Amino acid sequence: MTRPRVLVIDDEPLVRRSMRRVLADQGFDVITAASVAEGFAAFDAHRPPVIVLDVKLPDGSGLDMLSRLRKVDPGVKIVVVTAFGETANAVRAMKLGATDFLKKPYDLEELLHAVRSAAQSLTRERQLKGYRKRDQTRFARCRMIGHCPAMQAVRETIRKVVRSDTTTVLLTGESGTGKELVARSIHFESSRRDSPLMEINCSTFQDALLENELFGHEKGAFTGASYLKRGLVELCDGGTLFLDEVSEMLPRVQAKLLRFIDNTSFKRVGGNVDLTVDIRMVAATNADLEERIRSQSFRQDLYFRLKVVSLRLPPLRERGEDILLLAHAFLERYSQEFHKGFSRIAAPAQQVLRRYPWPGNVRELENLTERVVLLEEGPELELCHLPAELQQAAARRGPVGRMEGEPGLGEEVLEALTRRLAQQGLEPLPSLREVGDVYVNAVLDACGGNRSRAARTLRLSRQGLLDRLKRIGQGAPSSPSVPRC
Ligand SMILES: Nc1ncnc2c1ncn2[C@@H]1O[C@H](COP(=O)(O)OP(=O)(O)OP(=O)(O)O)[C@@H](O)[C@H]1O
Ligand SMILES: [Mg+2]
Repeated sequence: MTRPRVLVIDDEPLVRRSMRRVLADQGFDVITAASVAEGFAAFDAHRPPVIVLDVKLPDGSGLDMLSRLRKVDPGVKIVVVTAFGETANAVRAMKLGATDFLKKPYDLEELLHAVRSAAQSLTRERQLKGYRKRDQTRFARCRMIGHCPAMQAVRETIRKVVRSDTTTVLLTGESGTGKELVARSIHFESSRRDSPLMEINCSTFQDALLENELFGHEKGAFTGASYLKRGLVELCDGGTLFLDEVSEMLPRVQAKLLRFIDNTSFKRVGGNVDLTVDIRMVAATNADLEERIRSQSFRQDLYFRLKVVSLRLPPLRERGEDILLLAHAFLERYSQEFHKGFSRIAAPAQQVLRRYPWPGNVRELENLTERVVLLEEGPELELCHLPAELQQAAARRGPVGRMEGEPGLGEEVLEALTRRLAQQGLEPLPSLREVGDVYVNAVLDACGGNRSRAARTLRLSRQGLLDRLKRIGQGAPSSPSVPRC
């Protein structure tokens, strides 16, 4: 690992020497300069990410230098050193974007703290940038799948939210229904996508720690607060804050969050300055918040603020053909990832997938598909690949929407139909002829491209089917069209 570089600008040779010694001992790569001119030369030559800057320099003011340096490199972390009693300078320095300040006389331990935390916040910012890139790639890979009416309504609401100024959204739904995925969609599909998306699970922090994590603290706010810490609310300015399991937030933080939503401003713990940020807050829960209000563990006023826009993710068992659409998509995704040749699901396995009640929702379906692809061989996901408990639970639930004709073919046709309708973008109101054409193709898909079988299913003569295909523009004999997502 490269050593973090620090530039020390101070006109006192003794100060420069002791700073160099103590910082170098702690693993920093130290460069020194004695004046504004020397400082700029060193900055241009070495581009240090952290600078310790004295305010009084022989050839100019450190504060002027501070604002010029920040113009050249807005990301540079600058710790300003002011003389005893010059509080006004310290305030000005912070306003000009200094990371921290030290008042003379300071001890070397304080200097080390300030430089270390400046270097740490830089690393954190770089990590965030990296995460943002990684998240965008991951998001592109994990698009939301589903066309059933309830999911279409979810999409429509997302579309409205991302185009509006709405700053609070509440997501509800059983575990594994896709709340986190929706929060990500809201972020990455909005104009906030290049600002941070921060996520916090409210159940993993106790009261004070959650407040600290969300709103940060001032240096010296409490014992052990040896440096200023910016909270998530501040760090994701311009972006989106995802508050997961918001039902678990304890009362003191609920009150502070409510004040923040009302005023869009907050104070760091131990601070008295109001800071204003522009964030969209997406809160999620799989608990019944109204029940929590009745039992007085959740504030009703906060609930009303959060649910300005409220979105319920339906359980997977209520999504009809989406179950197979999702199963095919996961099959393809994991088949690619594990270099396996899975491309379809056998009709009896489809029936089980449709009938099983999916208590763990999409997460359970995804995990199951991943396991099957990893452990079994393709190209078809077969009934025997599914765990016995799943088959038994599906059998207990009984048939779901059976169709006439060959066993299992109905489900395959329905699935192919849904997929094709979605692919061809015919919604919302296709003509009778368009639907007819798509249906013919869906049956052909479900029959594995076998035209005689498709003609029988469609109650057409073989010639009748060929004529119809010709009219659709698919007259030439083709290889079987295998259903794919
Ligand atoms: N409509 C969907 N299309 C594709 N993948 C989905 C969909 N919904 C959920 N998933 C996937 O299912 C998994 C679980 O989703 P997610 O983590 O968003 O659920 P959740 O509602 O936040 O669950 P929990 O309440 O347990 O936190 C994720 O891998 C997600 O990518
Ligand atoms: Mg979640």
